[in-house]
Amino acid sequence: MLEKVEAYKREIQEFKVENAEDLERYRIKFISRKSVVGELLGRLKDVAPENRRQVGAVLNELKNLAQDKFRALIDELEKQKTQQSSAPIDLTLPPVQDQLGSLHPLTITLNRIRKIFERIGFSVADGPEIEDDWHIFSALNFPENHPARDMQDTFFIEKDPDIALRTHTSSVQVRLMEQKKPPLRAIMPGRVFRNEAISARAHCIFHQVEGLYVDENVSFKDLKDTLYYFSREMFGKDTTIRLRPSFFPFTEPSAEIDISCFICKGEGCAICKHTGWVEIGGAGMVDPNVLANCDIDPEKYTGFAFGMGIERIAMLKYQIRDIRLFTENDVRFLRQFRTLV
Ligand code: PHE
Repeated sequence: MLEKVEAYKREIQEFKVENAEDLERYRIKFISRKSVVGELLGRLKDVAPENRRQVGAVLNELKNLAQDKFRALIDELEKQKTQQSSAPIDLTLPPVQDQLGSLHPLTITLNRIRKIFERIGFSVADGPEIEDDWHIFSALNFPENHPARDMQDTFFIEKDPDIALRTHTSSVQVRLMEQKKPPLRAIMPGRVFRNEAISARAHCIFHQVEGLYVDENVSFKDLKDTLYYFSREMFGKDTTIRLRPSFFPFTEPSAEIDISCFICKGEGCAICKHTGWVEIGGAGMVDPNVLANCDIDPEKYTGFAFGMGIERIAMLKYQIRDIRLFTENDVRFLRQFRTLV
C-alpha cells in the first residue's frame, strides 16, 4: 500500500494541464469521491490496528497533496488562458479578405436616376404596390373598357371593388396630387406588376420610375428639356433624344421617348436593331381630366409626366441581354457590379 502511495505522489507532482479535459481527468482520478485516494482511505479499516495511525497519516498527506495540486492546476490553466488572449497582434499582417456584398444593378441604376433628378429639384415620392381601381385606372382617365382593366393584363386581388397589383407607378402621381397642391415636382420609383409571359425582354414584375411636374405654365418644352438633360447625364454627353407621337389615357399629347444609341452612336448595331435609336419610356402633358380628378384646377395649372423602365435603362447602360438575370440572384452576375455605386 505504501508503495502505491509513493507512486501516486509522484504522479500528482508530475501532472501537467494544458486544457480543461486534463484538469477533469486529474479531478476524477485524485479528488472525486471515487478517486484512488478515496479508495485507499476506504481500505484503512483493513489495516492492522497497530499500524492504522501511521498509515492514516500517510494517506492524509497524500490527500492534502492531491488537493493542493488541484488548486495549483486550476490557477495554472487560468494563467494560460489570459496569456493566450493577450498574445501580441501583428499589425503588419495583410487583412483577412472580407466577402463584402455589392449593390444590385437595379439599385445602382435607381440611385443614379435619383441623383440626376434631385439636382434639378425633383423629390422622391412613394406609394403602395397593392392599389385600388381609382389610383391605377379611373383617376388616370382610363375608359371603362380599356384592355389594362382586363385580368389578362393585370393581377387582380379582388373584384368589386377592384383591388390589384399596380401596373404602373402612375398611381403614385395620383396620390401625390391628391395629397399636395402645386408646385409639385417628384419622381416615383417602384415595383410594378403585369400579367405577362416571362421572356428575355419582359417580366411580370419589374420597376419603373415616373416623374411629375405640375405648376403654372409648365410646357412641353420643359418636358423635352428635362428628358434631354436626363439622357445626357445618364448615357453620356453626346446623347440626343427623339419624341414619337403616342397615346396614353392620362397624357395629352403623349410621346414615346427614344435616345440615340450610345453604343454605336447612331451607326446601327444589335442593341438598337440597326435603327440608331432605343426606346426608354413614355411621356406627355398631364391630361386636364387627371388634374381635375385630383382637385387641381386645369385652368390654372399644367404639368408633364414621364415613365421609364428601370430594368430597361440598366440593360442598356450595362448591356445586359436578359431581364431575368435581375431576379435570379446568380452571384456571378451580381459580382460584376461590385465596383459601381
Ligand atoms: N405609365 C406609363 C406606362 O406604364 C408610362 C408613362 C408615364 C407614360 C407617364 C406617360 C406619362 O407605360
